[in-house]
Amino acid sequence: MITVPFLDLRVTDDEERAELIAAVEAVLRHGRIMLGPEVAEIERRVADYIGLKYAAGVGSGTDALLLAFRALGIGPGDEVITTPLSFIATANAIRLNGAMPVFADIDDDLQLDPATIESLITPKTRAIVPVHWSGKVCRMEEIMAIADLRGLLVVEDCSQAFGASRHGHKAGTWGKVGCYSMNSMKAFASLGEAGMILTDDPELRAKIEALRYNGLINREFCHYVSHNGRLDTVQAAMMLKRLDRYERVLAAREETARFYDAHLSDVVRVPRREAGCRDVAYTYQIQTDRRDELQSHLTAQGIETKVQHNPLMPHQPAYQDCRSACPNADRLIKRTLCLPVSEKVTSAQREAVVAALRGFFGR
Ligand SMILES: Cc1ncc(COP(=O)(O)O)c(C=O)c1O
Repeated sequence: MITVPFLDLRVTDDEERAELIAAVEAVLRHGRIMLGPEVAEIERRVADYIGLKYAAGVGSGTDALLLAFRALGIGPGDEVITTPLSFIATANAIRLNGAMPVFADIDDDLQLDPATIESLITPKTRAIVPVHWSGKVCRMEEIMAIADLRGLLVVEDCSQAFGASRHGHKAGTWGKVGCYSMNSMKAFASLGEAGMILTDDPELRAKIEALRYNGLINREFCHYVSHNGRLDTVQAAMMLKRLDRYERVLAAREETARFYDAHLSDVVRVPRREAGCRDVAYTYQIQTDRRDELQSHLTAQGIETKVQHNPLMPHQPAYQDCRSACPNADRLIKRTLCLPVSEKVTSAQREAVVAALRGFFGR
């Protein structure tokens, strides 16, 4: 039986492993271990790739969000409207700054639904945080129109959508700031924990640079209360190698996603493709009324799948005091399932996924 893991974080390509080891060795030799030249280089390369002026490397995607909100002065008394469907770090970063998340609803593509935002806006609302869930950019034209009209900041959580674009604009370039997780499970993956904050605003960049290292200006004066959230140089060195390979990673993921599109759309709802949009296959979400039964069937066939992210953020025990209105998310979280789509999935493995899934539906 062919087994299909959801993810395999081993570095199995000998050429890649040699490149990564050489990159680490170079850091060990030059010895500029903290904020070494590789950090500046990956920041410049990522900023160029996304098409923004500045990128600041930080310790994780959680740090990216936390420091971006802090840099924008979002804090006690403020409300931030976001999606109910994200990894809990999105809400935690808002809350850790003393602000309150308010959860709007999602559309049938699982993205923050612009139509559900306006009714939640109050005089306390400061920002909207779209999460480009599972590699698809939200309906940003509509979200930006609301934000502009109501004078709200937009902070994009691009953790799952590095390189995705909508009508020529990449994830992270729509709002004031784009925040990225580059942990090992992401499509653009470090070998551990990493994140980045991107912006075109030089003042914001300077503030983020201070905030990511205990609020210190020139290593001496502490202007802001903050923590150590710097990106590690060894990690940056390996990320440079991973960036060189990134388009190949996306192409491999896309091949599996297209295969699923072609062979599954008559039995389950597959992700909707929109003209002029480049989705990156971070996860591949299908929707079906028989989700739980299907997941058990696939598990029995050696195919690992995931339900992301249940419970929804507003239903987490720590978030019971937040406003939310998300009936569609409540409905969809019972129907969605993520199939393995990483770049390591082989053609035999994707065929096994399709055969098992079609078999379940008697097709
Ligand atoms: C949408 C989203 N936001 C934030 C995060 C937090 O990133 P990290 O795990 O790097 O702190 C993640 C990933 O785990 C994520 O998927």
